[in-house]
Parts: sequence; C-alpha cells; structure tokens
Amino acid sequence: MKKTGLTITAAACAAVILALYTACVCPCGGAKSAALAPTPQMGWNSWNKFQGRVSEQVIREIADAMATNGMKAAGYRYVNIDDFWQAPQRDAQGNILPDPKRFPSGIKALADYVHSKGLKLGVYSDAGTNTCGGRPGSLGHEVQDAQTYASWGVDYLKYDWCNVGGLQAPAAYKKMSDALRASGRPILFSLCEWGTSKPWTWARGIGQSWRTTGDIFAKFDGLITHTAEWKEYGVLQILDLQEGLRQYAGPGHWNDPDMLEVGNGMTENEDRAHFTLWCFLDAPLISGNDLRHMAPETLSILTDRDLIAVNQDPLGIEALKYSLHDGVEIFFKPLQHGAWAMCVLNRNLEPRQVGFDWKNEAVSDDISNRQAKFDTITYRVRDLWKKQDLGTTATPLSAEVPGHDVLALRLDKP
Ligand code: GLA
Repeated sequence: MKKTGLTITAAACAAVILALYTACVCPCGGAKSAALAPTPQMGWNSWNKFQGRVSEQVIREIADAMATNGMKAAGYRYVNIDDFWQAPQRDAQGNILPDPKRFPSGIKALADYVHSKGLKLGVYSDAGTNTCGGRPGSLGHEVQDAQTYASWGVDYLKYDWCNVGGLQAPAAYKKMSDALRASGRPILFSLCEWGTSKPWTWARGIGQSWRTTGDIFAKFDGLITHTAEWKEYGVLQILDLQEGLRQYAGPGHWNDPDMLEVGNGMTENEDRAHFTLWCFLDAPLISGNDLRHMAPETLSILTDRDLIAVNQDPLGIEALKYSLHDGVEIFFKPLQHGAWAMCVLNRNLEPRQVGFDWKNEAVSDDISNRQAKFDTITYRVRDLWKKQDLGTTATPLSAEVPGHDVLALRLDKP
C-alpha cells in the first residue's frame, strides 16, 4: 500500500514538474501558438460591412446566421468585432469597457452566446494610444487588456497599428503576444500592421497571421489614394503585393492579404475570383459581408468545399505564380498526397481563350521542393467551380475564362 502511495506521489510530482516545465521553461510556446491556426483561420469580421455600426444585436444575429446557414459546417468559426466595440474611455482603474450603448450586456455575455452556438468570439484593439477609430488603444494596458479578454472568454484578437508614435512594431506586438500567452487562455493573435515593417520577417511565433497590405475595398481592380500613407486596394492590387511573401507563410503563421469582400458589391465573377485567389494564397478566410442577408450565390461561394479544401490543405503551402501573358495569370499550389491546384486568373474585363498543353509545361517549386512533372505523370483534372471532371493532363486544356474570373482546377495523381 505504502509503496503504491509513494509511487502515486512520485508520479504526481513528476506530472507537476512536467507541467511547470512546460509552462515556464519549455521553448514550445511557438508550437502551442501554432496549434491555434494549423490551417488559415476562418470566420467573419464586422469592419468591411458595418464599420462603426456594430452592436451586440448585430453580432448575435451574425452568429445565428453563421451557425445555421452552412458556414459553420464549412469550417467558419470566429465571429470578430472590429473597431468601435469599446467605450470612449477606460474606467478609473484603467480597465477597457464595452460601449454601454452598443454592448449593454457586456462582452462576456456575448462570448457566452457565441460559444453556445459552437463558435468563437474575437475582439479588436490597437498597439497605440487609440484605435484607428479613436477608441482607447492598448498601449500601457497590454497585460490588463489581455487578462480582461481572457476573463470574458475572448478567443481572437486583431491588433491594429494606428496612433503608435515612435513605437517599434516587433516589440509592440511581442508585448501583447506575451500578455495574451500569460493570460492562460488560447487567444489567436492577428497582427494588423499593414506590412509596414515587413512582419513576415519577424512575426512568426508572435502571432498566427499578419496583414501584408493596407485595407482592401470592394473593387476588383482599383486603388484609392487618400494620402501617401493611406491607400485602399482592390483585389488585384492586393494580389500583386503578395509577390515574394509565400516563403514566409506556413502552418501556424499566415500572410493575411486582408478580409474578404465577397458579397459586398463586386460581380459574382469577381467575388468568385477573389475567393479563389484568397484560397490559393492560404489567406485567413474572414468573411466581411452581412451574413444575415446574402444572395444564395454569395453563400455558395463562401461555402464551396472544394475551394476551402485548397485553402485548408494541411501542407499550408501558398500558391506560386507560374506565368502571366496577356492579362492571364496562372498559379499552382501544392496539395497533400502529391496533388496540385491550378488557378487561371483572367485579369481582363473581356473573356480569354486559354490553352495549356500540359506535356510542354513543368512546375517546379523551389521553396517547397515539389515538382509537377506532366511529361511523366498523368493527373486527373477537375474543374472545382463547375464540379466537372475534365479528363487528364494527357489532353491539352482548352477553356474560356470570363473577364475578372478564374478557372480553378484540381490535379490528382491517378
Ligand atoms: C484599420 C484596419 C482595418 C480596420 C480599421 C478599424 O484601417 O486596417 O482593417 O480594423 O482600422 O478602424
């Protein structure tokens, strides 16, 4: 008996020591945080559609919609409140407060509600004194805010970069990252620094994703220049800014080309192309439309299982740009089991006839060290949007791609 007791005590001690070691010493914080986004995170964010018009009612209704309209079943999990959820001032102890008019029941009650739907709740803050919308930022309150979020049951923090004075981004983001980790609650950390100081070179291990550009707007091909520092980018403009970044992304650490504008006013072709490109870029799939009232075409784009499988492929290898001729741009993305996805993007407004004689082409990805050898392996070809088998790579591809649209194919080994 005594021996057994001793054994149990020794085992318990070992377990405690191991737990303490894991919490304090083991350099596996990176591995743990990578587990928060082994594939790009999927969800919704209020900003693109609602800007400052957020409220607990909107957020609850969005959660209701996501839970029941097929999005949750397709993998969407996070319901994220962007700017303007905060009260204009902190309380006397410096605690961040929800805006009493918009969120009278508080964030904890909202998190409980969202969790009751099997979903997760995200909030937004800023590394500076104030958010971009002028609400209190987290500068000087990082630990306090992280503890508050954890006590409310928050699962995701988007952290912006307005009103930062002379702050250095790596240190500022690490500070909040450490505070979130110390809070004891797993909280996905989404950096929103717009690519200003190349977060892809330093943010791995600090957060699970980092914005690579300024803000998107619902235009396929366009750029609005407000000032030298403040621009808004169309889908193609953001796409072009991803060049050279694919080597920095992978499981647990993603390039974020900003949230989706699907359903926010582009044509159906453009929405399809935008969604496809974001899937090929391994982008976080954060929808940004009003999920309560959307056209069936919008929902079917957002929930397309075949495209989502490209985005959520466990290898987590971003697509590489293969060619660009006459406004027709071709991308290839390595997938698990030796498969590939191929995207033919027509950047033009008019349709283009596209021919691709596989046996004369060879894809070689120096970064993932993978090759598609069409002269030695014959792949089965499937059109992912049309849900049609197109034969094999033994026969040259010939297809018409409408303007501002894509052809998305999956190539599987026989
Ligand atoms: C910045 C971000 C946007 C949004 C707004 C909120 O512009 O890049 O995504 O969060 O702030 O004010």
